[in-house]
Order: sequence, then C-alpha cells, then structure tokens
Amino acid sequence: MEIKKITCIGAGYVGGPTMSVIAQKNPHIQVTVVDLNAQRIADWNQEDLSLLPVYEPGLDAVVAEARGRNLFFSTEVEKAIHEADMIFISVNTPTKTYGKGKGQAADLKFIELCARQIADVSESAKIIVEKSTIPVRTAATIKNILDHTGKGIQFHVLSNPEFLAEGTAIADLHNPDRILIGGEDADAIQALKKIYEAWVPAERVISTNLWSSELSKLVANAFLAQRVSSINSISELCEATGANVDEVAHAIGQDSRIGSKFLKASVGFGGSCFQKDLLNLVYIARSYNLHAVADYWEQVIKINDHQKSRFAEKIIQTMYNTVNGKKIAFLGWAFKKNTNDTRESAAIYVADHLLEEQANIAVFDPKVREEQIYEDLDYLATRSNDENRALLQVQDDAYAAADGAHGLAILTEWDEFKELDWAKIKTVMKKPAFIFDGRKLLDGKKLQELGFVYYAIGE
Ligand code: UDX
Ligand code: ADP
Repeated sequence: MEIKKITCIGAGYVGGPTMSVIAQKNPHIQVTVVDLNAQRIADWNQEDLSLLPVYEPGLDAVVAEARGRNLFFSTEVEKAIHEADMIFISVNTPTKTYGKGKGQAADLKFIELCARQIADVSESAKIIVEKSTIPVRTAATIKNILDHTGKGIQFHVLSNPEFLAEGTAIADLHNPDRILIGGEDADAIQALKKIYEAWVPAERVISTNLWSSELSKLVANAFLAQRVSSINSISELCEATGANVDEVAHAIGQDSRIGSKFLKASVGFGGSCFQKDLLNLVYIARSYNLHAVADYWEQVIKINDHQKSRFAEKIIQTMYNTVNGKKIAFLGWAFKKNTNDTRESAAIYVADHLLEEQANIAVFDPKVREEQIYEDLDYLATRSNDENRALLQVQDDAYAAADGAHGLAILTEWDEFKELDWAKIKTVMKKPAFIFDGRKLLDGKKLQELGFVYYAIGE
C-alpha cells in the first residue's frame, strides 16, 4: 500500500504538531490537516508564525519548513477525505457532560461524525488511523460505521495513540520512546510503520492488537498521573513532619526500579489527558463490574482534587483566614510551562476556590489569552460572567499583577518567573508579602532574605 496523500481531521494540539512533523520527515507525501473551525485553520495559515494557534517550542520552524511544500491546512474536509489514502482522526473526545456516563465516559460524538463523513465521501480504499484518545474498542465502532454506511469500500482501522507531551511535543515527535500501532491487517500496519520509519528507528515502532494499543494509551497516562498523585500525597505528609518532598523525591528516584521522572510535587496535575483518561479507565472498569479496580484508579483523581483545594486553603489560612477583598496575584494559568493550553489546569480550580471567598485575583501568563481565562472560569458555572470579570483581572506582566497584592501564587512553572526582579515585586506588594509556590519553582531562601513570607508545597 503506497501512501501518497494523508489527511488529518482535527487541527488541534495533537493533529497540528503531529502532522507537521510527519510532513517534515516525509516530503514526498502530501499532508492536509482539516478542521471545521475556520478560525483555527486561518491561524495555522498565518504568515506570522508566532500567531499559530498552538504554542510549542520548535513548532514554528517545522511549519516554516513544510507548509506550502507538502503540508496544508484547509477547511475543505470532504475534498481532503476523498483524496486521501490514509486518514488520521485527531478530533477532541471530551468527557461527557450529559446522559449515561456523564462526568466520566468519553463523548464520542465527534469521532462518530468523522466516521460517518468518511463513509459518505470515500470512493477508494483507505486506512483510518485513530489518534484521538478514546475508550477501548472505539476502533470497532469506527469500523462498524464505515462498513455499514459506506459504499462497500475497504477500510482498515488502526490505533496509533499519541504519547507526546505538550510543551515538548516537537522533541517528543522527533525522538519518541516508542510508536505504537494497533491493528489487524499486516499491510495497513506496514504502511503506517513506513511513514514513521522515515525518522524513527524500526525497533521503536511496535505493533499490538487493536485493544492492547487503545488500552495502553489510557494505562500510560494513568500510571504517569498516579506518580504525580503519589508524590503529591507525600508532599502533605512532608509539610506535617518536617521532611522536604524534593529531597524525598530525589532519594527515591535514585532507585532505578522507581526512576526519577514525574516525581515533582505540584499544585496538582492538569491537561487534557490525565483526568480524562483516568475517568475513562474508571468508567470502563465499572462497566465490567470491576469495582475494586475502578476505586483504585479513582483515588488518583481524588488526591489531585485534594491537592488543588489544599493549596487554596493554605493561602486562605496563611492570610489570617480571610482573603475577602484581598488581591492575590497568580503567576501562570497554563497547566504546565511552554504551552498555551489551559485544559484542566490547576490554576482554574484554585482561582475558583479563592473567588468563592471573595478574593480579587490578578493573573499573568506569558502565553494564555485573556478571553481563554474567562472562558475557563465561566465553564465551571460557579458564578456569572460579570462576577468573574469583576473579581478577576488579567495583566500583561508580572509586576502589574503583583502591584498592591497581599499574596502571590505560582501556578505554572514558566522559566521566566525565576528571572523576575523579586526585590522590586516586594516593594510593590502589601506587607507582609506572602508567596505561595505551587510549583516549587523559586529560591525560597533568597525570597525569605528579601523579606517575603514564603510557602512551597511539601516543605
Ligand atoms: C500527558 C502524557 O505525558 C503524554 O504522553 C500524553 O500523550 C498526553 O498526556 P501532557 O498532559 O501534555 O502529556 O503533560 P505532562 O507532561 O504529562 O503533564 C501533565 C500534568 O502533570 C501537568 O499539569 C504537569 O504540570 C503535571 N506534573 C507532571 C507534575 O505536577 N509533576 C510531575 O513530576 C510531572
Ligand atoms: P486535541 O488536544 O485532542 O488535539 P483539540 O480540541 O485541540 O484536541 O483539537 C481537536 C480539533 O478537532 C478541534 O479544532 C475541532 O474543531 C476539530 N474537530 C472536531 N470534530 C471535527 C470534525 N468532524 N471535522 C473536522 N474537525 C473537527
């Protein structure tokens, strides 16, 4: 099976960077990324590469190299489907907000829509690759729709989960630990393998059956999230006992059986994947009546929720048990550094908690748009848009956010926060000037010498 044209449905955080790298490394293959959202496509086509809809270090250079050569962004979904030999599905699969499985199961309506559209438009055999994070056995649903609504055309469905982490997506794509391909048809698997082997060593491209591949994505994220929740649970114990969580993490991480990564205590994990995939895993386990398994993984989410509210409570208690009318500066809103993505960011929940106590918040994040911050708060529906806008302001720099603030909280570990002029910040803040470091980012000793009251998670 010779692949000459690839189409990717969905130009988001997964589809955009992944297709950019596939096009960069396979200049002989035409790659078209389509999306229903015309603004998003227009942004991908921006002349000024600093305005791409997804912020990822190194992405601009890859797009500059491939765009217009063999990489195209378009709203012509049907045309692109019709022309393609291989179609990646990279649409969003949010947690259901209604009906059965509400709050836990993945909403597959976008996936189903894609499958129906592919069936409708296709007139030649195609390989369909699921890239979105989906519950186990979704490939079977896609295949079923294609076989029953199509025109008798042959479709092969493969699962090819994405393991890139935002903020390091381009590095992860260029040098992946492994590429996983699940499927039944050897030729289809080979065709996809060939695309990756343009730059990934063959031994890192592994194939499994469909279900193993789909489940591996959920399990990989569940294990990573579990490590973060494990160390976050220990951070609370460290605060109670006088141990230091960084020292504990370093000491246990030296054990090669444990390893040193994903042991950084924080205000809580966020992102579009961890919570969604855990909820999915819990939902699947429950649907098979495996309640002990479901309870076990659910606890990882509970500790994460606890960590976020514990941080907000710490701020309130430290500031004399009231934040009513007090200004609190938030440095960072994204769920981690080097991304403009805010989905499930801990900052949203910490802010919501403090706004319930009538605090005033001033946010500065180097990459997140002002409107996104209000959308995130409005989505929680805790209070009206007007109230959110009255209580929370967005500032263009850290000094403006800190001006007149009683307290300052670090919510995202952006490197530039380390370089701020902290002596200057001290002069503009109210005294005592409290700092709450939710990322263990700053030099606490230095800040204490400057006269700040400094609190960091797990110390
Ligand atoms: C994750 C997986 O890593 C990736 O393989 C998968 O494809 C998608 O989900 P991502 O959500 O982009 O990627 O970011 P990740 O680096 O995993 O961080 C997730 C959250 O955990 C962030 O909020 C991060 O700040 C937090 N985290 C991570 C910690 O609090 N401590 C750590 O030690 C590591
Ligand atoms: P992810 O992080 O999984 O990439 P995003 O929400 O960033 O998720 O991106 C998913 C994209 O898929 C969105 O831009 C959305 O508009 C697009 N999308 C969803 N359904 C369809 C569809 N049927 N056809 C084309 N694009 C779609």
